[in-house]
Amino acid sequence: MPRLLVTGGAGFIGSNFVHYWLRRHPDDRLVVLDALTYAGNLANLEPVKHNPQYRFVHGNICDQALVEKLLVEEQLDTLVHFAAESHVDRSITGPDAFIETNIVGTHSLLKAAKNIWLDTRRQEHRFHHVSTDEVYGSLGPHDPAFTEETPYAPNSPYAASKAASDHLVRAYHHTYGLQVTTSNCSNNYGPYHFPEKLIPLVITNILQGKPIPIYGDGLNIRDWLYVEDHCRGIELVLQQGRVGETYNIGGNNEWTNIDIVKLICDIMDELRPRSTRSAELITFIKDRPGHDRRYAIDAEKTMTELGYQPLGSFETGIRKTITWYLENEAWWKSIMEGSYLEWIEKQYSISDPTAK
Ligand code: NAD
Ligand code: DAU
Repeated sequence: MPRLLVTGGAGFIGSNFVHYWLRRHPDDRLVVLDALTYAGNLANLEPVKHNPQYRFVHGNICDQALVEKLLVEEQLDTLVHFAAESHVDRSITGPDAFIETNIVGTHSLLKAAKNIWLDTRRQEHRFHHVSTDEVYGSLGPHDPAFTEETPYAPNSPYAASKAASDHLVRAYHHTYGLQVTTSNCSNNYGPYHFPEKLIPLVITNILQGKPIPIYGDGLNIRDWLYVEDHCRGIELVLQQGRVGETYNIGGNNEWTNIDIVKLICDIMDELRPRSTRSAELITFIKDRPGHDRRYAIDAEKTMTELGYQPLGSFETGIRKTITWYLENEAWWKSIMEGSYLEWIEKQYSISDPTAK
């Protein structure tokens, strides 16, 4: 029976993973460690707060002593590492936090795991590192999708910090024998997605009648995956993945930003009609510096080796997601205060909407 430490479990994917895991493995022990940064939200974990198998610990992954204490006291044998600074735009305006959490923090977790699982106790264990397709850089329109063999070419401070953490995880396996796996996933969407990211930003801006900001020409491409499919992919890697290997997880679902925004506008007009069409809110603004043009994941290895398959269509997933935001107004409205407003002001109001 695995006993899990889930870092970053109060964030978007981490909280979806907690719900997914406790639903599928109700007898497993699951401890969440989260610093509750602006992106961490205890409301995401509200549905499990009375589950006796679950414990929340408010703390930082850079605190090696705390992590070691938890590994011992809870007899944990599996670490699923989601905690990160995750927003590319914030990494452009303030990269320091990305270096601290994504690189120093991951290294601190690796040291704690090595100390307890290899040096002190020598027990069966697994350190699973959750990473991103952004480490592979940007694709041209006709390039083949990223495989696990694609050379790393990170372009933003966020992507570079994730690439550095991937390398540290790999090194702790090769040098010390830590039992690691890494998954590199494409863009996720679904419930609890923090509204600084494109899809929830578009939905919540439409609901508030605010402009929908699209960077550059809107023709950048992302490969979107429903968050539960990502959780299933991680579950398969934990259960059947070979130690020391990396696995790509993706949706085989490439969309230009403008097409995805138009689709959301159409669904919003159907589900929550307004006096004017939502698409009229679309506003092209100055591009993101160093904006990667296209991401696409080739998940063949994960599919053939582990039997991974994304379930359901994008149209179903995006409808479910929009419906979730319509039904959980209190959740996103409580975020629309304080530091979120400051970020939106800084990111969107200062930039000249007509500059390209
Ligand atoms: P998120 O920003 O929604 O959540 C991050 C969580 O980590 C928050 O709860 C935050 O409080 C916590 N955290 C941040 N710094 C911490 C620290 N120093 N100590 C402890 N907790 C800390 O992120 P997300 O979108 O859920 O992404 C989770 C992971 O998945 C990240 O590692 C990210 O790189 C990766 N990933 C994300 C996507 C995506 O589309 N969102 C795709 C592929 C991979
Ligand atoms: O590919 C995986 C990555 O996906 C994860 O590693 C990151 O943690 C996650 O944030 C996401 O990164 P992106 O930069 O692709 O996601 P974001 O939602 O910020 O942007 C998606 C696309 O939409 C991107 O091309 C930029 C564009 N965009 C984004 C925002 C916030 C806009 O056009 N306007 C916006 O206001």
